[in-house]
Amino acid sequence: MTAITIVAVSNAFAGTVETMLMPGKVTRPHEKQEQDCANCHDRSNVRTQSSLCLDCHKEIAADVREHKGYHGRMANAGTGECRACHTEHKGRAADIVQLSRAQFDHHVTDFALEGAHSALACESCHKPSEAWRKAPATCVGCHKADDAHHGQFTQSCGECHSSMSWAGARFDHDKTEFKLAGAHATVTCDACHVAGRYKPTPKTCAGCHATDDEHRGSRGEDETNSPQIRSDRGRGSARRCERRD
Ligand code: HEC
Ligand code: HEC
Ligand code: HEC
Ligand code: HEC
Ligand code: HEC
Ligand code: HEC
Ligand code: HEC
Ligand code: HEC
Repeated sequence: MTAITIVAVSNAFAGTVETMLMPGKVTRPHEKQEQDCANCHDRSNVRTQSSLCLDCHKEIAADVREHKGYHGRMANAGTGECRACHTEHKGRAADIVQLSRAQFDHHVTDFALEGAHSALACESCHKPSEAWRKAPATCVGCHKADDAHHGQFTQSCGECHSSMSWAGARFDHDKTEFKLAGAHATVTCDACHVAGRYKPTPKTCAGCHATDDEHRGSRGEDETNSPQIRSDRGRGSARRCERRD
């Protein structure tokens, strides 16, 4: 008898009746979705609810698909039910996210908190008004002001630095066009990169040793073709820019 009445009424009225069947109002961010229960409920199959959620929440769906972000890395990603963590019908003001800061394991995100980052308050990196996922993901996104090199290097600070400390950068000089062999291996960085200037740095022997040149340029300026710098030689050998063939 009741069922027949519901079928007979208009859609708008059906909405009101259905609303009465709700266990409680949905949270404010879902207010607009409330009128159409089918947004989150498939009357024929309870198990399809998560896929309904994902129809709207495309960013979460992408995370799950690409195994990234919190929802793509959590245990049961892709198989667990959203409602296991996100409840509904607890009133407009209800917090359906329920993230526990104290218990949250940041390793289940795209950015592990290590070194100097491990003891910071969440707000040092996350704006309270923004979704957690919006925190800048690259070093320079947060450390632009700390760029001691004034843009001379790649902005991927992580290639040379870790989050432990800025000092002690790892940098493989052999990857540049100028290997630090022989005598040059023990010269301090500052002797060639005066006052933190890395660009330009002369690459030819004469570029740095011109004042030492006893050949007065007769052998040409560029000695970089095959010189072996002899580490066993003391001061003065640079002046001869000796080759060891
Ligand atoms: C934004 C999504 C959303 C909308 C819209 C929504 N619900 Fe729900 N509903 C849920 C979630 C999530 C649960 C499970 C809550 C839990 O387990 O803590 C639920 C649970 C229920 C339940 C308890 C039975 C069950 O499936 O667990 C009923 C009954 C229900 N909803 C009815 C409705 C009705 C009627 C409407 C439309 C007027 C509606 N809901 C709209 C998300 C929604
Ligand atoms: C018809 C579209 C739609 C469906 C279906 C839907 N949502 Fe939402 N949801 C939204 C919108 C819009 C917001 C508010 C903006 C935002 O955070 O993306 C929202 C917000 C949320 C939030 C954040 C709430 C907050 O306080 O910030 C959570 C969590 C959420 N939805 C989970 C779910 C779950 C779980 C389901 C399935 C039971 C679901 N949603 C189904 C559209 C939808
Ligand atoms: C194991 C618990 C858990 C499960 C399962 C889960 N979530 Fe979440 N969800 C969270 C937590 C914790 C947050 C807050 C952290 C964040 O923003 O990633 C959140 C945040 C959200 C948000 C708001 C932030 C945003 O990025 O838009 C949405 C929407 C959401 N979840 C949707 C879903 C959907 C859809 C599913 C099912 C496919 C789901 N969640 C499954 C725990 C869970
Ligand atoms: C040093 C900076 C930093 C601190 C401190 C920090 N976070 Fe994050 N957090 C990030 C970055 C970066 C991401 C990755 C953003 C992205 O997805 O690209 C992230 C991601 C997250 C996510 C996952 C978002 C998603 O949906 O994938 C959550 C949730 C989160 N953080 C919560 C917290 C909480 C809670 C705290 C405090 C206990 C905290 N964070 C402290 C930088 C930080
Ligand atoms: C989401 C923001 C965020 C990202 C991304 C981020 N950091 Fe940080 N980092 C901080 C904050 C906030 C601090 C603490 C305040 C400060 O010292 O600047 C910090 C501190 C540090 C410190 C300690 C500084 C000191 O003086 O002791 C180092 C080193 C550092 N970060 C390196 C990195 C590197 C390398 C990356 C990339 C792999 C990175 N950070 C990515 C926010 C971030
Ligand atoms: C090509 C490698 C490289 C890249 C990329 C790089 N650095 Fe450095 N950084 C160094 C070297 C080398 C030093 C000095 C040697 C040391 O102290 O370990 C240094 C030193 C620093 C110092 C300490 C300066 C001082 O006086 O103590 C800061 C701060 C710093 N870098 C920040 C950054 C930031 C921020 C970025 C990204 C925008 C960045 N670095 C990118 C190699 C790099
Ligand atoms: C004997 C001279 C010499 C010494 C000592 C030296 N460098 Fe270099 N470095 C060079 C030259 C020459 C280049 C340019 C190579 C090129 O253009 O490919 C260079 C390039 C670099 C670059 C690459 C800059 C760029 O173009 O991105 C970095 C970073 C660097 N050096 C760091 C260091 C650090 C750190 C030290 C100390 C551990 C050091 N250098 C010691 C001569 C030196
Ligand atoms: C970017 C600058 C730079 C370039 C380019 C350079 N050197 Fe040097 N070299 C130095 C500095 C600085 C020292 C250490 C201070 C000194 O002894 O003059 C040094 C030391 C040496 C020494 C150790 C002997 C001594 O006088 O203490 C030799 C040998 C030498 N260089 C040979 C060469 C040769 C050969 C080339 C060309 C392949 C070359 N250098 C290119 C800067 C440079």
